[in-house]
Amino acid sequence: MIRPNSIEKILLDEQTIARRVDELAAQISADYADADHLMLVGVLKGSFIFMADLARRLRVAHHVDFIALSSYNRGTVSTGAVRLIMDTRASLTDRHVLVIEDIVDTGYTLKYLLQTFSARNPASLRACALLSKPERREVDVKVDYVGFEIPDVWVVGYGLDYNDRFRTLPYIGALKREVYTKQ
Ligand code: IMP
Ligand code: MG
Repeated sequence: MIRPNSIEKILLDEQTIARRVDELAAQISADYADADHLMLVGVLKGSFIFMADLARRLRVAHHVDFIALSSYNRGTVSTGAVRLIMDTRASLTDRHVLVIEDIVDTGYTLKYLLQTFSARNPASLRACALLSKPERREVDVKVDYVGFEIPDVWVVGYGLDYNDRFRTLPYIGALKREVYTKQ
């Protein structure tokens, strides 16, 4: 398996991720068995691989849409403010909306999203994140489905990036600290 020099170690390998995505898909399929119009809203870019894998394992009919936000200027340093760069194409009103995130860190992004979306009167609104860093949380936000809780390290791969690099690594790896602390 290719392991670039900047990767300290592999936290979650392909098999581990695939098994957990299976479990999440089964749980979501059961929970939404009676819901019409399930709409998955993926948060670009980080969720694109997780979203593709999860959606293909669902056993309930669903639509997919995307939104793009930004809360990070460069590297791992947060700018504080969350910006909406691209909205969904479809209306969320009366839809069962499930937000698909790569990772919940401070929680600001998801909190902003859930507030924005709830104002559109969806039939229901929940969030699913592949990863969560509980230690880093700064705002209280409910994540209904979490793939894995991870420690406070910068991770890349399976959609997640560092300065737009490493997104397509098949595993989730921790970046060497010296890579993201020297900016
Ligand atoms: P929050 O608003 O602090 O919760 O930040 C959430 C966003 O920050 C995620 O959707 C990611 O885009 C990004 N992010 C936070 N931690 C990581 C990480 O370890 N690797 C890659 N992206 C991260
Ligand atoms: Mg993201």
